[in-house]
Amino acid sequence: MSVEEVPVAGEGPAEVGGGPLPRVLIASELKPLLPEDPLPGYEPIWISTEEETPTGDYVAIIPLLSRPMGERELAGLPDLKVLAQCAVGFDNIDLEAAARRGVPVTNTPDVLTESTADLAWALILAVARRLREGQEMLAKGEWTGWSPTQLLGLELYGSKLGIVGAGRIGQAVARRGIGFGMEILYSDQEPRPDFEATTSARFLDLPDLLRESDVVTVHVPSTPSTRGLFTKRLFDLMKPGALFINTARGDLVDEPALLSSLDEGRLAGAGLDVFSTEPAVPPEVANHPKVFALPHIGSATTHTRRRMAELAVRNAWAVLAGGDPVTPVPLP
Ligand code: DGY
Repeated sequence: MSVEEVPVAGEGPAEVGGGPLPRVLIASELKPLLPEDPLPGYEPIWISTEEETPTGDYVAIIPLLSRPMGERELAGLPDLKVLAQCAVGFDNIDLEAAARRGVPVTNTPDVLTESTADLAWALILAVARRLREGQEMLAKGEWTGWSPTQLLGLELYGSKLGIVGAGRIGQAVARRGIGFGMEILYSDQEPRPDFEATTSARFLDLPDLLRESDVVTVHVPSTPSTRGLFTKRLFDLMKPGALFINTARGDLVDEPALLSSLDEGRLAGAGLDVFSTEPAVPPEVANHPKVFALPHIGSATTHTRRRMAELAVRNAWAVLAGGDPVTPVPLP
């Protein structure tokens, strides 16, 4: 839905009798991406990330992934009809608490797939070709001229790209890999025959994928079973000189273990858009010479961020109007 398609005033449940409009909480950071009156017939109450979630008779909330939505927050919102997250990930939300209260949860899949896959590739290229070191060499005035052995990186053409989690984003990253002449490996809960048919991707269990891949890129959600997945034991399985890329969630990775694998020279580099303690990224991670780090900008294009905001509003609108959410998150 484009901004123009957001319902117009008069279609909503505005109190014809002139009573107060029902109120919805919306992340204030979304304001520039939405029409002035995003949910006609409802009063938007804009809350910034720094503000605690208020309590009261709000009927919907459109939060960002930085807002914890647990039992306590939900208990303070007894009239909530929908929690329409503006992100594809929903690890900030206690789904069991939402289910207990009968509050549907929605997210924003699909609309950010291509931009996030692009950013994973920005990191792959940056780390494979040592862009950070090259850029710093110039900035510090340390470049002494072309040299045949200077800043040698990994040739992607003919290398193996290991996709951990071949959902929407993992598959979009794989498709780009074919354009770069890479062989695609993937691990997932189940083989995905349609994906294999279009990419010739090879299904492997995770240890084998780590042993074989030159570049490992992570695209699984953060759940109780994936948190802390990448331990030293797994990094030790990786091919010497391989690259590790994470645009999914920081808490999938034991960061000290990753740094020690980089220091030992087991891994040649890491590209990270996500961190375990965002936004406080430990300096030893952000400044590590073999890490190319970005501030969680996977979906940060104007087009995508607009579409995310619009989809979140559309989800809230659908539920408030008594219909089904457009992109529901399955509740336990
Ligand atoms: C998400 O949507 O979960 C990303 O991390 C931010 O776009």
